[in-house]
Amino acid sequence: MVAYTSTEQHQAVTKAIELIGIGRDNLRRIAVDDAFRLRIDCLAEAVERDRQKGLQPFCVIGTAGTVNTGAIDDLDAIGTYCRDERLWFHVDGAFGALAILAPALRHRLRGIALADSLAFDFHKWAHIQYDAGCVLVRDGHAHRDTFSMRPPYLHGAERALGAGAEWPCDLGPELSRGFRALRIWMAIKEHGIARFGEQIARNVRQAEYLANLIRKEPDLELLTEPTLNIICFRFNRTGCDVASLDRLNEEIVADVQESGIAVPSMTSLRGIRAIRINITNHRCRSEDLQALVRAVVDAGARRLVGEGIRGEALSPRGNP
Ligand SMILES: Cc1ncc(COP(=O)(O)O)c(C=O)c1O
Repeated sequence: MVAYTSTEQHQAVTKAIELIGIGRDNLRRIAVDDAFRLRIDCLAEAVERDRQKGLQPFCVIGTAGTVNTGAIDDLDAIGTYCRDERLWFHVDGAFGALAILAPALRHRLRGIALADSLAFDFHKWAHIQYDAGCVLVRDGHAHRDTFSMRPPYLHGAERALGAGAEWPCDLGPELSRGFRALRIWMAIKEHGIARFGEQIARNVRQAEYLANLIRKEPDLELLTEPTLNIICFRFNRTGCDVASLDRLNEEIVADVQESGIAVPSMTSLRGIRAIRINITNHRCRSEDLQALVRAVVDAGARRLVGEGIRGEALSPRGNP
């Protein structure tokens, strides 16, 4: 059995494939386009190749909001392809799926409704305390048939404690489990779904604002256009080689984290190290983003002097 996802997949997908016993050698990582979205033509070729080898393609995992850049795969096209090819369509919407709550962003997730299963986290863009992951499975019978086991000590009854057609243990691997849903339900009751959508839309506008701040800084290079709430950029000077820039940016991130001003993270995009900002906090303000940019530029300048690295500032036109 073979599953397919993009090269921008989260490691959670590889771990899941390992956990269910299929093994990562049977997870194909399909190439992405310039906007980091899974390429359907490459997917179709890979499925065809595997079928010719006698293997059994069974599942495609699309991503709604990749961890590196927030890219959203063409869910409509993948969903249609999976329906035509009789493949299970799973969507990893860890943080991005909840963008559906913002009316202005909903269209970007077109096709998510075709999913056979969808995983997303309330502990990401819904600000719920860790952990509060959620999975939705379209076919309730298949879902129950997978997990439901009712030995004599778990036998249902017409009334009293054993009553009720469906128990949580019928829907997943755990028998005893925490009541995570309570805090999600309370937050939704308290704030209302629309408020969550407003905060998400605001974070996306803030990512665009941050991208503009970066474009104006001669020492900073924007590495991706924002699709959702993630921005990737780096400190750059012309005349520096890739390896020293990678090291420099890693030091900058550590400096900024240790300064306590902001908590950028790092990733690699097409082989170069990038500073990654993921704005999911409902308390984030424009001033915080200005302080972040200042902190990165200052840390970069200090490091250049400290390590005797030479180089010219980029022209602001060097930015996309
Ligand atoms: C796209 C994507 N998938 C999966 C995960 C894993 O989520 P979690 O940390 O809740 O297991 C994340 C986040 O870290 C993610 O961004």
